Amino acid sequence: MSAPAEFSHVPVLLPEALHAMNLKEGGVYLDGTVGGGGHSEGILKALGGRCTLYAMDRDPEALAAAGTRLSAWPGARLLHGNFHDAPGLLGDARLDGVLLDLGVSSWQLDTPSRGFSYHEDAPLDMRMDPTGGLTAAEWLNGTPEKEIAKALYEYADERWAARIARVVVQMREEKPFETTFDLVRAVDRAIPKAVRRKEEGHPARRAFQAVRIAVNGEIAPLAGALEGLAGLMNPGGRLCVITFHSIEDRAVKQAFARMKNPCVCPKDAPMCVCGRRPLVSLPKGYPLTPSESELQSNPRSRSARLRVAERLGI
Ligand SMILES: C[S@@+](CC[C@H](N)C(=O)[O-])C[C@H]1O[C@@H](n2cnc3c(N)ncnc32)[C@H](O)[C@@H]1O
Repeated sequence: MSAPAEFSHVPVLLPEALHAMNLKEGGVYLDGTVGGGGHSEGILKALGGRCTLYAMDRDPEALAAAGTRLSAWPGARLLHGNFHDAPGLLGDARLDGVLLDLGVSSWQLDTPSRGFSYHEDAPLDMRMDPTGGLTAAEWLNGTPEKEIAKALYEYADERWAARIARVVVQMREEKPFETTFDLVRAVDRAIPKAVRRKEEGHPARRAFQAVRIAVNGEIAPLAGALEGLAGLMNPGGRLCVITFHSIEDRAVKQAFARMKNPCVCPKDAPMCVCGRRPLVSLPKGYPLTPSESELQSNPRSRSARLRVAERLGI
């Protein structure tokens, strides 16, 4: 796959993320969600290129765009893959910092053929990595009703989850799901018209978010992935994560809390006997949200939050 002609994505919380990473010359960094390369370029510029930067994305088209943008920097090493698999992909590299800017890029959302957008009728794909896994259409056509309802509720707080799942199953019995507008129609049929009219934003927004999260396995493996990344880091290294919705943010917050305090001994035990030691500390001042001026210049940043954990020397 070649790089799209115009890869447009404005990096969110850029100065805040660069500051949070405590960058140092000669360091080894991982941008696990390189996208269009905005944050990666920021890291390389801040260090005048005097670092090694692993730039990873599971989307080969995003990686191609990042490759073009970062081609002037010899320290940049492109990697196709899921950051959940970073410990295997990076071999014995030790990291001085990691940045994860979770979710999908504006470019992915705005490219109709990727199937993330409820504004355009296109094949219902939604895979960040189109080289493998089920498409959203395949997932909707083959997943039991209860599981669809659970995903809609857990990944998007969709209060009409059960009704949407019921309609999906009814519709797919007549004709399998194929396009984004099939899913839009299912939501339209399931949510009463009066409710749809009153709602802020597109009524299918939550269903699209939930199906995307389910298809790409974004939440369930996140805690384990963060712990795996913290395990690769040198003491003092910062694990910086930008989230875009409350479900993702809660998962990161809870994972950080467990890494800070992994002890599973009973609360009233006189001393710790489980042997689990804290892996990180949580620097003060976080989470951070975008400034007023960022919100004005980039409204898509409105739900972003930056959380930071610092690797302890154990
Ligand atoms: C919000 S965008 C990142 C934008 C980037 N920071 C920039 O400045 O252009 C998220 C990117 O992360 C990728 N991504 C999301 N989850 C991933 C994962 N688990 N492993 C690797 N890449 C992932 C997506 O394909 C997408 O390109």
